[in-house]
Amino acid sequence: MKRIGVLTGGGDAPGLNAVIRAVVKTAMHDYGCEVIGIKNGFDGFLLPSGASLLTTADVRGILPRGGTILGSANRGNPFARKITKDGREEIIDVSGEVVHAINALKLDALIVIGGDGTLRIAHEMYLCGIPVVGVPKTIDNDIHGTEISFGFDTALNIATEAIDRLHTTAESHQRAMVVELMGRDAGFITLHSGVAGGADVILIPEIPFRWEAVAQKLRDRKAHGDLFSILAVSEGAHPIDGAATYNRPGDQISVPRLGGIGQKLGEYLETSGIETRVTVLGHVQRGGTPSAFDRWLATRYGSAAVRVAMQRHFDRMVTLISGHITDMPLMDAIAIPKRVDPLGDAVQTARGIGIAFGDEINH
Ligand code: F6P
Repeated sequence: MKRIGVLTGGGDAPGLNAVIRAVVKTAMHDYGCEVIGIKNGFDGFLLPSGASLLTTADVRGILPRGGTILGSANRGNPFARKITKDGREEIIDVSGEVVHAINALKLDALIVIGGDGTLRIAHEMYLCGIPVVGVPKTIDNDIHGTEISFGFDTALNIATEAIDRLHTTAESHQRAMVVELMGRDAGFITLHSGVAGGADVILIPEIPFRWEAVAQKLRDRKAHGDLFSILAVSEGAHPIDGAATYNRPGDQISVPRLGGIGQKLGEYLETSGIETRVTVLGHVQRGGTPSAFDRWLATRYGSAAVRVAMQRHFDRMVTLISGHITDMPLMDAIAIPKRVDPLGDAVQTARGIGIAFGDEINH
């Protein structure tokens, strides 16, 4: 009997459990395989009881559940692990131990569900002889190799609902409402939810903005009788002459944590005489039940990952291209990050219906 391992790495995203469920069901039903669930990403290989058999009973009822039943680890990179020794922090490479633990489990394949960081680790593991297959996960939708990563649709729906809710209170008080949304250096959540929710201003990392152009848009709206405004702002948005805003610096292990641009913009608008309130949606975008679309996509990815593993096509990632699930080399999938095309039809559509991106030069 063959054995497949499965782990979830990096930040969680709605739909992780749907992938795990599809892996277990497809592996057992179609191939008679055993599935081993690894806890807390690659860290699980170093834990005393970090690997355990997953049966259909274990995955029953998890389809609508957010999070991951396996747990995840944001800093779980076996090639650069932070430890504290004699009161001092050190970065060490424990990949040898992880490879040893994987080999001891006699896995025929390891399905790694993660974003670009986790998938890069998966590729490095492959170079150490581990038969990996990747599944693209991230609410940011910034993985180049696939049209859509699971998790994005749910985050988009949550962000859109937030914008809808802000509309009614903005209108009541005739205020500007800034909502800061996730996405790291990619503006997909903000652009799509901003258009879907009818925002008046959308600020995304791919289109640097000018403070004055944003304030002018709101003044113009007021002059035309539109007394309130909604501004959807990516956490990675930044002005033309300035850097992105971080609320925590990075280190050798962690990337810097974005956050604070919404507040800065709110303060700027207030000093420009525009009454403004700021909402930071944060991890609400990642929590809770996945949308039907994400469950559907996650299930297709999970099943496909097992098929790819059984064909022994390793160092590959399952992907959605033109509506079909296929697979491609892992490194090709993540070599360059996916970003909003500032000249693409989505931005053009938004501009066409009067949404400002803060880069307008005619003010
Ligand atoms: O990559 C997903 C994401 O939610 C980003 O949109 C956000 O910047 C980041 O993760 C937050 O990470 P953490 O879970 O470490 O706060």
